[in-house]
Amino acid sequence: MDNRIVTELEISSLLDAVYKAYGYDFRQYSPAHIQRRITNRMVLSGFKELSQMQSRILEDEAFAAKFLQDLSITVTEMFRDPDFYRSLRENVIPILRTYPFIKIWHAGCATGEEAYSMAILLKEEELAERTTIYATDFNQRALNEAKEGIFSNALIKEYTLNYQLSGGKKSFSDYYTSHYDNVIMDQSLKKNIVWANHNLVTDSVFAEVHLILCRNVLIYFERDLQNKVQRLFYDSLTNGGILALGSKEGLRFSEMYEFYTELDKKQRIFKKNRVWI
Ligand SMILES: C[S@@+](CC[C@H](N)C(=O)[O-])C[C@H]1O[C@@H](n2cnc3c(N)ncnc32)[C@H](O)[C@@H]1O
Repeated sequence: MDNRIVTELEISSLLDAVYKAYGYDFRQYSPAHIQRRITNRMVLSGFKELSQMQSRILEDEAFAAKFLQDLSITVTEMFRDPDFYRSLRENVIPILRTYPFIKIWHAGCATGEEAYSMAILLKEEELAERTTIYATDFNQRALNEAKEGIFSNALIKEYTLNYQLSGGKKSFSDYYTSHYDNVIMDQSLKKNIVWANHNLVTDSVFAEVHLILCRNVLIYFERDLQNKVQRLFYDSLTNGGILALGSKEGLRFSEMYEFYTELDKKQRIFKKNRVWI
């Protein structure tokens, strides 16, 4: 491909067409992210013009699926940002402990590492038996991998370090068995996790939960879409429920900021203010 940059108009026409044909709405994703992914796919697939690639996306479902995968960045880790998990142990677990049943929602769970980390943490805090973890993503391929719970051995050294830094109480190897080049996560961790396909842009509230974790997802959305998703989170939380966004995302510029109280400023963990009816 030459260095011709695809125009905003071309991108907007493509995203409209994708929404109409497949129901996936990327129209309010960050333009920089969308442009990067589109030009990357054009180079990989040898398209000189975006209009040519648009025709292929609309005519060939297998190619469209590949393009949709391109737009979903599934980079993740076990106990990613260990300080975040330290804060959960310190600031959030004592609140969850006061509930007889606990519901947790991981929104944008990718290949599941975050949900497995939570399952481990809850087990160590003796809360696993009374908790349901809903782990959702709109990327079905990532969800299928998540359900399997099989991860490459090559990652385990880094995950073990993350686990230790996060305040893990046992040995990380207690939670998996090795199988050739992979590890298989313990069956006991899977039993409280419900995996589900859910699109934060087009789907609505599906459960009332005590804790929502959504990290490294909203960074791909424009401000208006972030606000829309924040309203969805607010509506999905119980009175006094907790929203954990992680250090890269915030609420400060969201219209929902005033409805929460900060529990951890750095890790961006918030408690929904109680509404007395
Ligand atoms: C970078 S990963 C973050 C994974 C994990 N939360 C973490 O922080 O390690 C972003 C995930 O958000 C998902 N995602 C993006 N847009 C979404 C949407 N509209 N609805 C649901 N999931 C979405 C992607 O498919 C991807 O799996």
